[in-house]
Amino acid sequence: MILSGKKMVLCIVFMVATTLSLFADRGEDVYNHICAKCHQGYVPADELAKNFFEDNNTLLHLKAPTISQISYSMKQKIGDPMADDDIRRMEVSAFIADYIIYPDKQKSVLNPRIGKFFKTMPSLKGKLSTEDIEAISNFVYDYDAKIHEEKSVKDISFDKALEQAKKENKIIIIKATAPHCRYCAKMDREVLIDKNIVNLLKKEFIVVSVDLSKNVLPLDLRVSMTPTFFFIFPQKDKNKVKIKRIPGAWSKEDFLDILKESIIAKKNYK
Ligand code: HEC
Repeated sequence: MILSGKKMVLCIVFMVATTLSLFADRGEDVYNHICAKCHQGYVPADELAKNFFEDNNTLLHLKAPTISQISYSMKQKIGDPMADDDIRRMEVSAFIADYIIYPDKQKSVLNPRIGKFFKTMPSLKGKLSTEDIEAISNFVYDYDAKIHEEKSVKDISFDKALEQAKKENKIIIIKATAPHCRYCAKMDREVLIDKNIVNLLKKEFIVVSVDLSKNVLPLDLRVSMTPTFFFIFPQKDKNKVKIKRIPGAWSKEDFLDILKESIIAKKNYK
């Protein structure tokens, strides 16, 4: 079949588009067909803690650590945590690519109190193509952030937040974070994803995350540590806000108290 010039171009565009989307889904396919036999994707951190530390894995009967646990632990422990995202991705992907072909618990990045529940993973040598390995490595690398985006609150820019907070009578939380901040990641994973907290955040608050490696804080705010939370209470007088600073990482229970106290404080600030 001979195609005219225009049809040919369309045909090539279509082929390229299909290949790209196939590649993006490929990691998920590899996960579903191969890894999911043993690895569950995501289980909330408090259920995992209960399962492993109180119930000796008799609650969930997990056959392997969850992908979310692996994604999180690797980013904490492999390579240089201060390096750029591209370099981190390469280092972590290299670890996964190596581990699935040459599994060895000596190389494990998991908490040994969790690792002890599992025998060494069987090697997948010969079962995956190079492209499959690249796709699954990226899938695992991105997994924890993807889950956080799905389960936690969406955050928006400060200007938009201020407008919305005034209209809806809400409190703004500015979260100052940094890419290498372990306790920010820990709070994202254990606290800011918890159902009760997320529900309360959605109802009464608007969250603005500021990555200090990329942006400066609004309102001339400054921090000496990450994470630091600023609670911003818009005032009736249009240009004024009241600010409460809460530095540090918090447990689920304490952070819930902080949120509830802020809701009470809001009434007094009017
Ligand atoms: C037959 C079950 C099984 C399959 C299939 C399987 N795994 Fe595993 N995997 C395990 C077990 C069990 C562990 C925990 C023990 C260990 O670290 O070797 C593990 C551990 C890992 C670790 C290392 C975590 C660490 O630091 O200890 C990575 C990475 C990993 N799996 C990725 C994958 C990926 C990606 C796939 C799919 C391509 C996959 N696994 C398929 C059972 C499996």
